[in-house]
Amino acid sequence: MNILLVGPQGSGKGTQGKMLGDALGYAYLSSGDMLREIAEVHPEVDLVLHQGKLLPDEIALRLIEEYLQKNNIFDNVILDGTPRTKHQYDLLKHWFESKGKRIDLAIVLVISREESIKRLSGRRMDPITGEIYNLVTDDKPPAGLDLSSLVHREDDKPEAIHRRLDLYDLHTRPLIEEMKKDGIVVEVNGEQSIMDLHNELSNIVQKKSNL
Ligand code: AP5
Ligand code: MG
Repeated sequence: MNILLVGPQGSGKGTQGKMLGDALGYAYLSSGDMLREIAEVHPEVDLVLHQGKLLPDEIALRLIEEYLQKNNIFDNVILDGTPRTKHQYDLLKHWFESKGKRIDLAIVLVISREESIKRLSGRRMDPITGEIYNLVTDDKPPAGLDLSSLVHREDDKPEAIHRRLDLYDLHTRPLIEEMKKDGIVVEVNGEQSIMDLHNELSNIVQKKSNL
């Protein structure tokens, strides 16, 4: 089964995607994480990310598809952060179809703009383990961890956050309506505790795989 994780910035796609991937034994791919790695050697990609803009659809999808192809991932994958536009959805659908597979489920994490902004301003990442923490929510870093070693993403600064949320409203909300027509969308309240949300997502996937 192939699963998309969709939701506004800070809705918990990365947090839940990793947990769900571990629990199900699925591959997990965050397009944002992948592009941040690419940005380290491609200044033009770095600029787009820092500004909180989107990469052009064709380029983003080509990079995702190349990654999946190279790693022989055609099924049992959780995609976090892609597609973000209707055009990306069409491209991705066709790619899976060309592999004899399909997109089975799109889980949409619903949170308010205020909650997004609150979470992103407090988000920090441990650059060694890749773990995501938060200085202002319950997802605090463990005691004893050197806080100065944690990374605050450049696009988590106020101006970029607003731009990213505006792009979500402009491109991704219409995409969700499009996916609803294909009957693959399940919307979930993203403003519950991390564990409650994880349990709800596990149940949704379980139910879907029993169909
Ligand atoms: P990307 O990295 O995907 O960023 P995003 O979509 O903006 O999502 P975030 O990573 O900010 O949030 P999240 O939902 O993963 O939340 P998290 O789990 O960290 O993309 C970055 C950039 O890459 C884009 O702007 C674009 O430029 C480019 N890009 C990527 N894909 C693209 C594509 N397909 N096409 C074109 N461009 C593309 O959680 C957030 C915080 O909240 C954390 O601190 C966490 O600890 C905390 N938290 C999580 N869950 C909870 C909870 N339930 N309660 C309390 N706190 C919580
Ligand atoms: Mg993320």
